[in-house]
Parts: sequence; C-alpha cells; structure tokens
Amino acid sequence: MMLSSTAVVFALAGAFATLPAALGLVAQKRAAAFFDPTAGGGSMLIDAGNGLGEPLNVIISGLSSPQVLNEDGLINYARAIGFSTECFGIHLGNPFSANLGDGHGPVNQTTELRQDFGNADLGTCLESLVGGNHFRVYFQNGPSADSGAAFLAVSREEPASDNHDIVPDGYDIGRDQLVAGAVGITSFDGVTYSTTAQNVTGLLPVGSAGVNHGTSTGLRLAPTFPSTAVDDRCVPTSGIAIDGIVTVLTVTIQ
Ligand SMILES: *[C@@H]1O[C@H](CO)[C@@H](O)[C@H](O)[C@H]1NC(C)=O
Ligand SMILES: *[C@@H]1O[C@H](CO)[C@@H](O)[C@H](O)[C@H]1NC(C)=O
Repeated sequence: MMLSSTAVVFALAGAFATLPAALGLVAQKRAAAFFDPTAGGGSMLIDAGNGLGEPLNVIISGLSSPQVLNEDGLINYARAIGFSTECFGIHLGNPFSANLGDGHGPVNQTTELRQDFGNADLGTCLESLVGGNHFRVYFQNGPSADSGAAFLAVSREEPASDNHDIVPDGYDIGRDQLVAGAVGITSFDGVTYSTTAQNVTGLLPVGSAGVNHGTSTGLRLAPTFPSTAVDDRCVPTSGIAIDGIVTVLTVTIQ
C-alpha cells in the first residue's frame, strides 16, 4: 500500500485512536506514527560526516507498543527479527548523527545493530567479517515532535575488509530484507511481536543526489570472489541510488 506521508500520520493516528484505551496503555501510547523531520528543520538523511547522507528508510511507528520504543526494547525486537548488537561491543565505524526535527538538533545514533546470521551472540561477528545487513537507530522524542518513533538507517554492507562500503542498491535491499524478516509474528526472550508494514513516499528523495556512496567511489565484491588477492576482490560500484520509499512498521507486543 502506498500513502503520502501526511496521510499516514493522520490516517494511522485516527485508526488507532481507540486502541490505547482497549489495551490499557493510555498513559504511554503516543498519538502519532511519526512527524516528517523536514517540517522541524531536520532531514530524512543522516549525516555521514562527509557532506553526504544515508537514508532513514524504515520507521517504527510511534503507535507501536511503547515497550518497543526505547533502546532495550528495540534491541530485543531487533533480535527477534535477525539482528544483534555489534560484535562483542566492538564498533567498527564512526557514529553518524541525525536531526529528526524534534527540537533536539543533530544527535548521534542510539545504537547500531547488525544481522546476526541466526546466532544472537556470535552472528554479528560474522556480519562484520563477511558483510550483511545493519542499521543505526534514532528516536524522535524531542520536545517539538515527540512521536516516540524509531527512525532506522538500514543498509547492506560489504565486509569489514572493504571499509564497510554499501553493496549496490544496499539501502533499498537492506530495507526490504529487514522488513521481510520483521513482518508477521516474531519473538525473542519471551516477547512476541506482531508487525505490519506500510510504504510511504514523499519523505525521501529518489536518486543518488546527496546520498553517501551515491557516487562511483565505492567498492563491491568482484564476481570472482573469493580470491586470495585483496585487489582482485573488489571492483568500483556505480552510484547507489535510492527508490525514495520509507517502510513504516507498526509493532505490537502480543
Ligand atoms: C557523535 O559522537 C562523536 C564521537 O564520540 C562526537 O565527536 C560528536 O560530537 C557526536 N555528535 C553529536 C551530534 O553528538
Ligand atoms: C514496499 O516497497 C518495496 C519496494 O518496492 C516492496 O518490495 C514491498 O513489497 C513494499 N511493501 C509494502 C508493504 O507495500
């Protein structure tokens, strides 16, 4: 389903307006799915520190169960959908900041999670070595746009040896893989989640302008991989464009 961003904020807010009382979550449940960061001077592109940005291409709606919309809750949810915290706490990249237009200005990511390849403890080490899906998390919880939503910058990376470059179409692919693993019923550590997805256009631009790795400076695995010579493993990518779609997930704890 495709909706404009404004429609989602209001349509979802309306559709779920009666739910909090029914679920007994009146005190915590937020009133909006999310607010468009650009309306508050922010951006849907996070700051990669080089003048370019990476897209916030998944939003976990503020209308999700409140227990999901904090760092610990989100980490547990991420584990349910195939991600884990970074390999033994070793952080391989710099923090990137985002301005969600909520009055907090630019803030660094709350956490960064990586695909765990089926093992929540060791799998992220594998991701760091062989590449895989990962995302950075930002909460929209400032005073002027307090939706509580979690904004995720999702991308599929090349291995650590390639300096964490993004695979061709790695933003769109990363988003679609995360969503595919999230939709439906998932569980981790005794918590069961029901997740629905909705695509939104009009928040992100389409194309590669301003997008990190959007120019042809990246590397990708050569078709001949694996190879013994490092120089043979990588070939330059053409620019990585984005399709402009943001997928909004609504996560309800069962
Ligand atoms: C993000 O973290 C880096 C490294 O710790 C720090 O230098 C930078 O000032 C932080 N940026 C923001 C916006 O807090
Ligand atoms: C969202 O868009 C992606 C990319 O076009 C598509 O694969 C996916 O099925 C869409 N999801 C929904 C819920 O419409």
